[in-house]
Amino acid sequence: MTNQDLVATAWKAREHASAPYSHYRVGAALLTESGNVYTGANVESSSYGLSICAERVALTKAISEGEKSRFIRIAVVAEGRHTPVPCGACRQLLADYAPDVEILLSGTPGQFEFTRLSDIFPRPFSSDFLK
Ligand code: THU
Repeated sequence: MTNQDLVATAWKAREHASAPYSHYRVGAALLTESGNVYTGANVESSSYGLSICAERVALTKAISEGEKSRFIRIAVVAEGRHTPVPCGACRQLLADYAPDVEILLSGTPGQFEFTRLSDIFPRPFSSDFLK
């Protein structure tokens, strides 16, 4: 799947965002080395802190469905004043399960910015600390 296709898939996934409180709708599409794609959208709760980000929906879908292949790339899309970026909690979860993941950030369909988790989250806590 091309980067453009992954970004387009994330924009499509965003259509299922449920963001009645923030009105900030986010989509994500996570690509594995074997070519599987898992999508996510943010799902909010009236108890705001229970809301789940699009990235974590995509990641937990993949893991809970038994995906074993490496996660190589994730597209994250949202409309707003700034190009979207994963929040701190999502960066930690991605560091745990997709430490080398490349990230495509898109604030406008058809356009994206390339970055890597290691660039935006340079010194992660990890399972290494628990040994
Ligand atoms: N959100 C995401 O889905 N991903 C992020 O990386 C940042 C924040 C969602 C959570 C909440 O539903 C809304 O955006 C506003 O914080």
